[in-house]
Amino acid sequence: MDMGNLTRRNFVIGTAAAAFAMRFQSGLAAPRLSLDTASEAERAEKSNAWLEISTKVFKANIVMLRTYLNEVAADGKKVKICVVMKADAYGHGIAMLLPVIYELNQGYIKAGIEPPLCIGFTGNEEARVIREYEALRSADDRKSMGMPIRLVRLRTATLDEIKEGRRVAADPKKENYDIEELIGNQALAVEVNKLGSEANPIRIHIGLNAGGMSRNGFELTTRSGVVVEEVKKELQGIAGDLKNLKVVGLMTHFPVESRTDDKAGLNLFKTQVKIIDDDPAFSAWKQADRHVANSFATMNVKETHLNMVRVGGALYGDVDDVDYVRTAGGTATAHFERAMTFKSKVASINFYRQGSTVSYGRTRLLTRDSRLANIPVGYSDGYRRDFTNLAYVLIKGHRVPVMGRVTMNTIMVDVTDFIGGADGIVRDSEVVLFGRQGDEEITQDSLEDASDTSGAEFTTVWGQLNPRKLAADSIGTARRK
Ligand SMILES: Cc1ncc(COP(=O)(O)O)c(C=O)c1O
Repeated sequence: MDMGNLTRRNFVIGTAAAAFAMRFQSGLAAPRLSLDTASEAERAEKSNAWLEISTKVFKANIVMLRTYLNEVAADGKKVKICVVMKADAYGHGIAMLLPVIYELNQGYIKAGIEPPLCIGFTGNEEARVIREYEALRSADDRKSMGMPIRLVRLRTATLDEIKEGRRVAADPKKENYDIEELIGNQALAVEVNKLGSEANPIRIHIGLNAGGMSRNGFELTTRSGVVVEEVKKELQGIAGDLKNLKVVGLMTHFPVESRTDDKAGLNLFKTQVKIIDDDPAFSAWKQADRHVANSFATMNVKETHLNMVRVGGALYGDVDDVDYVRTAGGTATAHFERAMTFKSKVASINFYRQGSTVSYGRTRLLTRDSRLANIPVGYSDGYRRDFTNLAYVLIKGHRVPVMGRVTMNTIMVDVTDFIGGADGIVRDSEVVLFGRQGDEEITQDSLEDASDTSGAEFTTVWGQLNPRKLAADSIGTARRK
């Protein structure tokens, strides 16, 4: 398949996409997503701050994960990959990254040896935009790329959300989001059952609280593995009485990045799954996928792979917090790269004398005559106020410190040492707030340390607040001149 064509087609589908979107408009969660990546890229060109997303890196990360999983598979079995694209692909933009998923799936389906990718998501709006993308493909593309793709919702949805996802399901000729729902509560299972039919059951994943998140799952055993009979009965009721549900997955989720903790959670999950497998009441659940592993577990505790992994962060390059560099099977090294760069430009450079203070609150005193660059980005763009006096940015490959308080729309950085010469910083010089420039990088770790929050929180918020465009190294021709 020509990736360029597939991507380019995104830009000429405005009318068809709008028509499709109209059919699915009511009751959707904000923010509204769009396949119109061209308009967003145009906005990025003129914006005070923007994100550049590398589809090349995203693809390479998935390919590497596939290789890694194959290499470490003890029995040669192919573990499925559920690519976690919730929160608009962790802020990277589902619309930009979808072509990569389908291109890979086309290859996997053609080769017939790799299981196709599925997508983990959370909000209906994400499901809508994915189905909209699929609906705009030709029948041939749809077939060769394995559409409709499996969409696994990775959190408990409200009943209204589930209804919205099913709202036209009564008419099988019409499209619906065709979502696999996560169910970890009996009362919700009963309600969801009413939305399906035996002929057209709702596919569900049963959440077990083995990992100990205590947010989505049934507590089938105590923490020491003793069966809780009441919960077992609830599950038997789902298996026996709720004929409009089809269980396609058994899952749990880990709350910490720790090998010991994940292993303990896995063991409890296995105990709980054995209780299910040993009971004929659950014979229909035998084929269900068993999945527990997030990025950390996937890369660090290979016993957690079971028959499917749900990987998000690592595929976007969320690598700072844990060491994802692993020698797989003694031969390959799994090293994930960062897919997002957050950028702005120097708006002006001013001279201020020693003894002046910088920005609100006078938190920074100039200890020398200084040249300060004014960067038009602030906390309203997601550049957090707690980066005040702590973060650095990159300009012309130089690492320069944020001076004084981050304000709503502006930060000041000290460029005194880098004025003049071939690599001197000037007005309009590109600024990297997060990601690489030349040999330097503003890492997730450094911003996490400056703010006591997580990288995923940065990227999801930045993705909502700033326009995105494809990075220069991206696959396809989506970039506008
Ligand atoms: C249920 C579930 N599975 C998988 C993931 C992916 O986690 P990670 O981004 O660490 O790979 C998440 C993300 O929080 C999740 O909520």
